[in-house]
Amino acid sequence: MFDRDRFIAECQDAASRNATDDNAIRGAVRDILARAVAEPAAVLRGLGEPSRAGIDVLYRSNQITVVNLVWARRMSIMPHNHNMWALIGIYTGREDNIFWRRMPGADPREITAAGARSLCAGDVDVLGRDIIHSVLNPIDRLTGAIHIYGGDFVAAERSQWDAENLREKPFDHAEARRLFEEANIGPGRA
Ligand SMILES: [Fe+2]
Repeated sequence: MFDRDRFIAECQDAASRNATDDNAIRGAVRDILARAVAEPAAVLRGLGEPSRAGIDVLYRSNQITVVNLVWARRMSIMPHNHNMWALIGIYTGREDNIFWRRMPGADPREITAAGARSLCAGDVDVLGRDIIHSVLNPIDRLTGAIHIYGGDFVAAERSQWDAENLREKPFDHAEARRLFEEANIGPGRA
């Protein structure tokens, strides 16, 4: 049984109990998220079967932001950073993550692919503060994940990288919103 309000209250409590130690907050919230998505069907029932792609902010403070993130079928998003730690817990579908790093000695705005991780329902991944990733939903149905960030994710200054030339620019919230809208109305989409 997953209760959305109780889950958020547990995360809030973990953040306030460890207020002066960002690593301790991350560890405590990771454990709460891992316990929740260990029963992905319960989270799916608690949050509701996703019907469209989008970023639903469930809770937001200076310490943590909790997001219900739904990817459209076969949707991808360009490389971006968060400038804070992040946790990904999948409760339905799959997320393929490519991790990127800046290239020493090259143009500091450019990045190169450095690794990948494919996450399925029940998996939790921890992303450090400096991580750059891009995400693909490789399957033919919606993917749902709880993402938790170690700060006010909505207000954070951060970067994205052009998907074609891999050049850094400021994160464009309007472009991100458009990506999700287009993913919802595109041919064959939800
Ligand atoms: Fe991200």
